[in-house]
Amino acid sequence: MSVGGSDLSRTFLGRRFQNPILLASGTAGFGRELEGVMDLDRLGGLVTKAVSLAPRAGNRAPRVAEFRGGMLNSVGLANPGVERVRAEFLPWLAARALRAQLLVNVVGFTVEEYGEVVARLDGAPGIAGFELNLSCPNTSAGGIEFGADSACVQRIVATCRARTRMPLSAKLSPVLPDIPAMALVARDAGADAITVVNTIPGLLLAEDTAAGRLGNGNGGVSGPALLPIGVLAAARVVERTGGMPVIGVGGVRSAADVRQYLRVGAGLVGIGTAALADPRLPERIIRDLERGNG
Ligand SMILES: Cc1cc2nc3c(=O)[nH]c(=O)nc-3n(C[C@H](O)[C@H](O)[C@H](O)COP(=O)(O)O)c2cc1C
Repeated sequence: MSVGGSDLSRTFLGRRFQNPILLASGTAGFGRELEGVMDLDRLGGLVTKAVSLAPRAGNRAPRVAEFRGGMLNSVGLANPGVERVRAEFLPWLAARALRAQLLVNVVGFTVEEYGEVVARLDGAPGIAGFELNLSCPNTSAGGIEFGADSACVQRIVATCRARTRMPLSAKLSPVLPDIPAMALVARDAGADAITVVNTIPGLLLAEDTAAGRLGNGNGGVSGPALLPIGVLAAARVVERTGGMPVIGVGGVRSAADVRQYLRVGAGLVGIGTAALADPRLPERIIRDLERGNG
């Protein structure tokens, strides 16, 4: 309970979150970048950047480009790999996030890799569960995203389910033809929650050349333009699954934006791009929510 404000705490995936605000995956790293900039323990929780089996250097710079509607990024899932994350990064974070919950974002380049990462982190001290980033190219099927294929989604979630009893949230792309149908596939395979949405594929060209503004060429669109897309996805998943736990992400910049997601039934709300631009924003939004401000 906050002093002088309303109690925003809630139970989600069997855990107590002191408020609904999460830092979205990839935009807070493993928390170290935010030390001294924001109080991690004020958050409802933090979702780590994607963790893969092997370390990944990521894509060529530049990795982000701004435009009027938001941002384009292609970080390439850079991360230290599951072993270092387990031995160094998570213990550091868990020692600082005593009230904030930690969710680990997991990625794989084969179905088995997802399961292996989950198994190696299963029961790691201080973590509340996993978020499966299904927007990853399936290297054994010509690079189509796993999350676009219901058989792959079923296999990834079921494989991870078999390797942990901890909560699993399946994170879906906003460009699926039927997002709630994919949420049902994930649920039936053992997912406890759905995170919507990830970024939308996009391309911006550098001026006067045919090259992309990002080192990788194309990337993922995030930021304000995603707000109505994410709210609709969250609403439809809640409706069609009959009230499955949903983490709403996309385009949040204010307490009013957070309320959009909460009003359609999301239990938690992630902030990504806006917190990258202004790391103090999540705390301000929490304060505004407590005070009932916009
Ligand atoms: C720089 C950057 C890195 C990201 N990395 C990840 C990631 O590792 N795993 C993941 O599931 N989503 C990742 N995302 C997607 C965000 O978690 C979020 O779903 C998306 O950006 C929409 O939220 P926003 O509009 O608040 O940024 C990343 C986004 C950005 C901008």
